[in-house]
Amino acid sequence: MQVVVLDSAAEVGEYAAGVILRGVSHGTVKTLGVATGSSPLAIYKALERHRSPELSALSAFALDEYVGLAPDHPESYAAVIRREVTDRLGLDPGRVHVPDGGAADLAAACLDYEAAIKAAGGIDLQILGIGRNGHIGFNEPTSSLASRTRVKTLMSATRRDNARFFADVTQVPSLCLTQGLGTIMEARTVLLVANGKAKAQAVARAVEGPLASMCPASVLQMHPHATFVLDREAASDLA
Ligand code: F6R
Repeated sequence: MQVVVLDSAAEVGEYAAGVILRGVSHGTVKTLGVATGSSPLAIYKALERHRSPELSALSAFALDEYVGLAPDHPESYAAVIRREVTDRLGLDPGRVHVPDGGAADLAAACLDYEAAIKAAGGIDLQILGIGRNGHIGFNEPTSSLASRTRVKTLMSATRRDNARFFADVTQVPSLCLTQGLGTIMEARTVLLVANGKAKAQAVARAVEGPLASMCPASVLQMHPHATFVLDREAASDLA
């Protein structure tokens, strides 16, 4: 695992975008795994400034989706990905995939999502944020390190953290679909970005703590090409 520490969130975004752009121009990144939340927004804005036909030809797979929000709900991850990724990067919407949190058969939707990732040849580069409890995607603590895309229950701490995007915490769905830790580990390269003091403990547990399902991001210690890109505050609890 590589750790890169930079001065600001803006530099974190620029650095991660640079890694992606180099992969795109070398032809090693054709399928991007995309995260929602605040952390990766600077990456998408930086990529937008470097839009090119090669960048716009990428396929993308989202990490997760709430269950029970219509795709046109502004806080559904389908809508967030459309706004922040598809539109900014000029991607073909037909090549941008989000788990179907409105499916009548959620288990089948999860299997279909795994099959779609496989059919696309796997994910070349996965962007990740990290929750304060160490989650990646919506793999909350105690998630199996080998898990695949599935239905998960969000912890109340995560619902409280995400309440800022909704009128109040009661509006945050309790269930989601998320790529599993085993799914994420199959991405060829992983870039985790984190900013701010609130993430410092989770980052330290992920990088230096024991490999443990109580800190799902610690599974990345086993990934051959994982990089944590951090601002100074997010790195401040590292030894
Ligand atoms: C989002 C996701 C989550 C977030 C994490 C951090 O698709 O999968 O793991 O990356 O909750 O969220 P922010 O960046 O908003 O602090």
